[in-house]
Amino acid sequence: MKTNFHEQDSKIITPTYAKANVDFTHGKGALLFDSKGKQYLDFASGISVNALGHSHPAIKKAIREQSEKFSHISNLFPNSPQIKLAQKMLSLTKFGKEKGKAFFCNSGTEANEAAIKFARKYFHNNRIEIIAFENGFHGRTYGALAATGQEKLKEGFGPMPAGFKHVEWNNVEELKKAVGKNTAAIMLEPVVAEGGILMPSKKIIETINQLKKQSGCLIIADEIQIGFGRCGAISCSELFGINADITTWAKSLGGGLPLGLVLMSAKIAECLKPGDHGTTFGGNPIACAAGLAVLEIISKPKILSNVKERSLQLKNGLEALAKKHPCLGKVRGCGLLLGIECKKPVADVIAACREQGLLILRAGTDVLRFLPPLIVTKAQVNEALKKLDRSIFTIL
Ligand SMILES: Cc1ncc(COP(=O)(O)O)c(C=O)c1O
Repeated sequence: MKTNFHEQDSKIITPTYAKANVDFTHGKGALLFDSKGKQYLDFASGISVNALGHSHPAIKKAIREQSEKFSHISNLFPNSPQIKLAQKMLSLTKFGKEKGKAFFCNSGTEANEAAIKFARKYFHNNRIEIIAFENGFHGRTYGALAATGQEKLKEGFGPMPAGFKHVEWNNVEELKKAVGKNTAAIMLEPVVAEGGILMPSKKIIETINQLKKQSGCLIIADEIQIGFGRCGAISCSELFGINADITTWAKSLGGGLPLGLVLMSAKIAECLKPGDHGTTFGGNPIACAAGLAVLEIISKPKILSNVKERSLQLKNGLEALAKKHPCLGKVRGCGLLLGIECKKPVADVIAACREQGLLILRAGTDVLRFLPPLIVTKAQVNEALKKLDRSIFTIL
């Protein structure tokens, strides 16, 4: 008997992911299709990656054209798509004006590793501490994992690298106590995404900026999930007035290909010299060409205003559903990273939504997370809300 896709996978792939038994064959825009021809509204976007949805013509063109030139030359030589993407990202963020610089890698965790290393290098080991936040998520490699504020993800993997402290999210007093002469950087997600879609308070932002001034520490903003248009702007830290010295990017940056980026102010770049850090594949020309194609589109007012309009529509729709279904609670988040508290087992709701043809994710323990592509239409948001409504009924 033919084994199904899921069985084939679990026989040979590590059980590190809880995968659903779906055999996707192709996608178009906000839609995905499986081998049985079933259609899904993709409000997961490959975990905040597919900003332009699936199979976007501009990304396909960029990948095709660059792959006909060369796919890889290493970082021992400059490559034109990398330079163009860096120029465009710098010009769209405050780092362009500050004569800042870019470092490319392959993923979010790598971008955060680099950010932590650069912050420590800036202080030449005189200040080593990174102050991060509980519930924050920064990646799975040791530095980024040490910065992550979720103990369960570290269990069995100790010891963690030294020099990381965590304070409660939005707890101003705790943060003031934690930051001192040994603090190299305060590291934060402008919106705590994975850990429950938790917005920053005005006060915590003011305090972070003040502490930077008072103590001379750096600020590292992890924009990996919320930046690059998803919050309604290219840079979420700039939108919120966080005076970051280093920002990290990945996920949608590569248009579906693996790509990470660190942007930093000039004073940090000045401390780096050849050999200090590196990666074979980082800033791969095809990934950068794809990323540039995405950036050209998402930086246009049309997409950013769609993010704002669809965000409001989804937020209002979720709030209306919360009035109808007692198991649904408060709506959280901003832009097209929205969540709703859910008293039903979140995994069951996600599975029921999938049955109805809607892909969504979890955040924290009890939040349903919605990450539609930035090009999602009004009709698709309405359809997703109807599917969520029906799904909740099926598990009452
Ligand atoms: C805010 C944030 N930082 C870092 C990461 C790690 O990125 P990657 O999985 O590409 O290593 C993620 C991934 O979910 C994330 O959401």
